[in-house]
Amino acid sequence: MTNNEFLIGSATAGSQVEGYNIHSDIYAQEYMKTGGYKEYSLDAADHYHTYRDDIRMMHEAGLNAYRFSFEWARIEPEEGKFDEKEMEHYLDMVHACREYEIEPVITLLHFACPKWLIGKGGWEADTTPADFGRYVRYVAEHLRNENIRYIVTINEANMGTLIAGYLEKILKHTDGAGLQIGMDLEKMAEQDALAKEENLSVFGCETAAVFTSPRSPHGDKIVCEAHKTAMRILREVLPETKAGLSLSVRDLQYTEGGKENADKDWEKDFLHYLPVIENDGFFGIQTYTRAIFSADGEEDPAEGAEVTQMGYEYYPECVEHVVKRVHESFKGDLLITENGIATDNDERRVAYIRTALEGVKNCLDAGIPLKGYMYWSFIDNWEWQSGYSMQFGLVSLDRKTQVHTPKPSLSFLGSFLKQE
Ligand code: BGC
Repeated sequence: MTNNEFLIGSATAGSQVEGYNIHSDIYAQEYMKTGGYKEYSLDAADHYHTYRDDIRMMHEAGLNAYRFSFEWARIEPEEGKFDEKEMEHYLDMVHACREYEIEPVITLLHFACPKWLIGKGGWEADTTPADFGRYVRYVAEHLRNENIRYIVTINEANMGTLIAGYLEKILKHTDGAGLQIGMDLEKMAEQDALAKEENLSVFGCETAAVFTSPRSPHGDKIVCEAHKTAMRILREVLPETKAGLSLSVRDLQYTEGGKENADKDWEKDFLHYLPVIENDGFFGIQTYTRAIFSADGEEDPAEGAEVTQMGYEYYPECVEHVVKRVHESFKGDLLITENGIATDNDERRVAYIRTALEGVKNCLDAGIPLKGYMYWSFIDNWEWQSGYSMQFGLVSLDRKTQVHTPKPSLSFLGSFLKQE
């Protein structure tokens, strides 16, 4: 692959690698009894300090792009008060990318938000699109001279809706009285009361509508509105930059009788966002696996199927399938903003990437305007609720010494651009 225009890189998110995103809602939740986090993020991969060396490592391995997030909670830690020093920090990351010929792909929102936003109702509040817009404008103004090619407004805009869907599915596995088997109602009520109390003391409201909370249809509209607001501002301030959002989209397959169920999920996960994204500069695909539907709904991976540390099926073919399916209805530019595997076996990671990239080549041969592939993730990191137990990285992380060591998969990914 000698086309230097094609972007090959890796991706990270601030809260997962930087360490101490202390003004964020997620950081606050880590310390709550009802927050649901298994481990504290603490200094994470210390990327807040090591980014220049990390970016050099990407360059040395042959990558030419890096997708990372600007953290709203650092840049606007108090409502309406921007921290110029933090903005400088992110500008320096952009400059480090330039020094090492790495194209920065910037994400403006990757799940974590300032704590104050949640106190105002978070991702269910009508005020959030304007709040997001104010932050986006501030960042965009600072990027005027940086020649940024791609900006992801919102990472996995459908995350809250997906989570609401999972909960609904869990509740369907209930006994005749509508209760999940083994569900302890008293304990649930206790937890609920404790969550309200904690939310009230931490965020100032009983329900914390963070980005990864189950989302109502109203909240989904708020997310779409926030994206549209960001797009208007980016078009005005950075007309040369291509902006768009990303969605989590699996390769939805079906067995006999399952088509209707698979189609329903495709509608919910992707088609439903089409009117919102159709005029965007690009669309970001995040795909990790497939799901197989029967007439009864989504099936578990088949007996004996290889599963990743995350519990889902090893299925790198999802890249080609999802890109081709998305292209049937979205004709604009596409970026794979995330695809990857959590495993402690780097040979399996190399094999996964090899198949994923074969899929990329097939899509390019088919004339699809696919502009890049970002592997998730650059380094082993803090996988949200799962803590440090998942190894998605092309680079390993020693949490005690903070030494970052490339795995063979890093240079394997980098070699893609050198292939004929
Ligand atoms: C998210 C990442 C996450 C990854 C692996 C995506 O949903 O954008 O933050 O770490 O998947 O689970």
